[in-house]
Amino acid sequence: MITTNPFAENVLNIPSYAIQGFLILMVVFTIGGVILDMMHKKNVKFFFQNAKKMKLAATNSVSTGEKVSIVVKTLAHDVATSAEFCGVTRRITHLLGMYGTIIFWVASAVMIFNTSTTSTIYPMLWHIGAIMTCVGGYWFWFIQRVDVRAEGNSWSRIVFADLFVLSLVGTSTLGLLWSYFQSANSIGFATLFFVMFIISNVILFGGVYWSKFAHMFYKPGAAIQKHLAEADGSRDDLPAPADLPKQFGLGIKRSEPQNY
Ligand code: HEM
Repeated sequence: MITTNPFAENVLNIPSYAIQGFLILMVVFTIGGVILDMMHKKNVKFFFQNAKKMKLAATNSVSTGEKVSIVVKTLAHDVATSAEFCGVTRRITHLLGMYGTIIFWVASAVMIFNTSTTSTIYPMLWHIGAIMTCVGGYWFWFIQRVDVRAEGNSWSRIVFADLFVLSLVGTSTLGLLWSYFQSANSIGFATLFFVMFIISNVILFGGVYWSKFAHMFYKPGAAIQKHLAEADGSRDDLPAPADLPKQFGLGIKRSEPQNY
């Protein structure tokens, strides 16, 4: 199973050009969803207006070289290592979900557009990426979510904001089940999970406008802006950290942050 390209001889014999068309449609959904989201929230407009305002509040001038170095450092640290998360286990689940998904999507694109390849590396990456996403996603879903961990709600309580994480783990889980039953020549189950895999992808990519999907594009921009504002002294109008030892009292040691 793990070394087989499930798209190459899919259970419904859908021709490769149709699957390629479907992938392109998902990309169009993503771009369209993000553009609509930006128009609705006006976040990019706010971002540039704020950047202009902060330029006036700057106390240091930052050279282009320094700016490039800040961008590179932010991408290598904050973005690539999910450094914004305070809790170690939450950071691990995000890393598993983020890299699992990226590996899954890249391997999907290669296998869909290059069906003649006999390399077993991409099918293996596809399955490993899906497993990583499931481990990170379900760990987050069952144990770490704010409403479960901090607010004591049941893990089975589903709200609209869960659309992203549920459709994300849904695509990976259904993809794995489809691949398993297809390899086992169990045509009925393979057909069922293949159809559900397609539907879950339509929900994941078609739901970009309504879900948290777009955070993967916004968060890196916001992290870069934060570090640039620290370097030029504007600090987004926030006060500089006090030059005093941190004193939070003993209560702070009672429980480590686990879900943020
Ligand atoms: C393929 C890429 C990514 C995937 C699959 C992914 C997945 C997720 C998931 C499933 C959640 C939990 C959402 C929920 O609360 O229901 C989340 C939250 C979060 N992600 Fe990502 N993420 C990705 C990229 C990124 C990047 C590039 C950054 C930062 C630079 C980032 C920063 C965050 C932060 C700070 C949160 C918690 C706050 C929030 O929900 O907005 N993520 N991510």
